[in-house]
Amino acid sequence: MTILVTGGAGFIGSNFVLDWLRQSDEPVVNLDALTYAGNLENLAALQGDARHVFVKGDIGDRALVDRLLAEHRPRAVVHFAAESHVDRSIHGPGAFMKTNVEGTFTLLEASRAYWGALADDARAAFRFHHVSTDEVYGSLKPEDPPFAETHPYEPNSPYSASKAASDHLVRAWHHTYGLPVVTTNCSNNYGPYHFPEKLIPLMIVNALAGKPLPVYGDGQQIRDWLYVTDHCSGIRAVLAGGRVGETYNIGGWNEKANIDIVKTVCALLDELRPSADGPYARLITYVKDRPGHDRRYAIDARKIERELGWRPAETFETGIRKTVQWYLDHPEWVARVQSGAYREWLDKQYG
Ligand code: NAD
Ligand code: DAU
Repeated sequence: MTILVTGGAGFIGSNFVLDWLRQSDEPVVNLDALTYAGNLENLAALQGDARHVFVKGDIGDRALVDRLLAEHRPRAVVHFAAESHVDRSIHGPGAFMKTNVEGTFTLLEASRAYWGALADDARAAFRFHHVSTDEVYGSLKPEDPPFAETHPYEPNSPYSASKAASDHLVRAWHHTYGLPVVTTNCSNNYGPYHFPEKLIPLMIVNALAGKPLPVYGDGQQIRDWLYVTDHCSGIRAVLAGGRVGETYNIGGWNEKANIDIVKTVCALLDELRPSADGPYARLITYVKDRPGHDRRYAIDARKIERELGWRPAETFETGIRKTVQWYLDHPEWVARVQSGAYREWLDKQYG
């Protein structure tokens, strides 16, 4: 048995692959285009491990996806590959349409053709697991209950609109063609290998470099934070036991205002790596807000708990401490990401 993972060199995908192979010997074929967000150094621990087959390529390359499916005969596709950064989607939405919408379409079509030709048992067991986001549901008011799976889709950014489109495609491929899909919609992740353009890793690396900590608008926007390995265990639970055609929200019941996240990171750094120049919070700088900035996300994760018994293992306090410590322990990873050196190996390897 084998699974095909897309986007397995990114933040969540690489954590998922590492976690998967820590818990099982089932091989992983990892298809990743290695955009700026893909970093094979995240998977250095798997060098020489025959259970991990890395393939550099685009999910939009139908011939390549067909070949991988035919060659490796996976029992499941776990689809992480995406353009994932809201700010980048505001500056350049094209890549988001290309990968998140067209790429998902291509992957669905290739999976449908492959699945349709399987023997009955394998056809019944096959899963297409689509990894999506809470951002498809839009923005909550302070008094609103958290997003349930039945919440209407109200995406507000080019990124969330492209993910919403991909969710709809996945749903339609199930309803029209019977493709056995499951979709998970998760809240904000944090943890090791998080690219330092996103809030938490950016604050850690900027603080350590003595640079300003840019907080958008009034800093009172709320996100619901989940430690990345808890997202991975949620995906494993849904892949193993989720009902076909269903969507499952994954979240940690950790709603926090951005400014409180930044202050928490500063306080942990003050404790673990105090600065001679004084508390890191001195670096907090309020900057222009993100256009169309969603005010609040919060996930109602009762369905996955009720049906599959999944619960996060980390609290925010344990997860954020581990995360800050991980960045302190991996200055070379940070330096190579910041300098772009992590891409040199790619050029050497792939030209
Ligand atoms: P990321 O940006 O860190 O990684 C994305 C990966 O996909 C990279 O390795 C990149 O090289 C690869 N990729 C991009 N375009 C590709 C293409 N056309 N073909 C093949 N590979 C391609 O993203 P992430 O934060 O790890 O998110 C992974 C998935 O989880 C995304 O689908 C995202 O929407 C979803 N998600 C993310 C979060 C979060 O907080 N980061 C929360 C919920 C859901
Ligand atoms: O909710 C899930 C989503 O979480 C995922 O689908 C996305 O892929 C992921 O990137 C993340 O989106 P956000 O926009 O919430 O994450 P980001 O880290 O970019 O920003 C988190 C919050 O912090 C958001 O309200 C914007 C704010 N922010 C962000 C940056 C980078 C700042 O105030 N300053 C910053 O410099």
